[in-house]
Amino acid sequence: MRFDIISCQPDLLESPFSHSILKRAQNKGLVEVHIHDLRKFAINKHGQIDDYAFGGGAGMVMMIEPIDKCISGLQAELSYDAIIYMTPDGQTLNQKIANQFSLLQNVIILCGHYKGVDERVRQKFITHEISIGDYVLSGGELGAAVLADAIIRIVPGVLNDESSALTDSFQDGLLAPPVYTRPADYKGLQVPEVLLSGDTPKVEQWRFEQAITRTRERRPDLLNE
Ligand code: ADE
Repeated sequence: MRFDIISCQPDLLESPFSHSILKRAQNKGLVEVHIHDLRKFAINKHGQIDDYAFGGGAGMVMMIEPIDKCISGLQAELSYDAIIYMTPDGQTLNQKIANQFSLLQNVIILCGHYKGVDERVRQKFITHEISIGDYVLSGGELGAAVLADAIIRIVPGVLNDESSALTDSFQDGLLAPPVYTRPADYKGLQVPEVLLSGDTPKVEQWRFEQAITRTRERRPDLLNE
C-alpha cells in the first residue's frame, strides 16, 4: 500500500513513520510513505500557499493552485483509490473505516491548516473527509499520522503475530479484555486463575465474558442491547 501525504509542515510527519511498526512495515516493503511539501508548489517565490478569505474574517485559507499542482502531478504518475482530506468536519474515524482503507492500494492524504482549504479543492479532488475526533487540531498532520497508523498496522503481514490485530479493541465490535504477564503474583496482586490453567477453551470463554463486561461498563453504545 502506498501513501502520499501532502503537508505544509512535513517535518511534523517525519517521526511517526520512522519508528516501530510503521517503520517495519516500510522496511518489509509492505507500505510506502511519501511526504510532499506543499510549499514546493507555492504560487510565488515567497512560498505563498494561502491567502485571505473572500468575504473577510480572520484566518487564512489554503489556495487551490498549489494543491492542484501537487495532486495533479501525483495523478499523472499513478492512479489513486482515495484522496482523503483531514478535517474536523469530516467523518469521524473508527475501526471499520480503517479496515476499509487498509484494502486500498494508493492513497493521498491532504493535511489542512489555518482555516482549511478553498472549498473548490474539496469539490474537485477529495473523495473522503476524515476527522479523528470532535476537537480542533492546529493542522491535519497529527490526524494523518493517526489515520495512517490505524490503517498500516492492519495491512496483512505488517504485524508479526497475525492474530494480534484481530484481537484489538473494536475489531469485533467489543473492547479488548484485560491482559496480564509475569509475574503471576506481584506483591499480592494475583493474575486470574483461569489464565494459568492452560485450558484454552476456558481462557477464550473468560476473555469473551470480560470483553462483554468491559464494553457494557465503558462503552454500552457499542452493544445492541
Ligand atoms: N484538522 C484539525 N482538526 C482535525 C481533526 N479533529 N481531525 C482531523 N484533522 C483535523
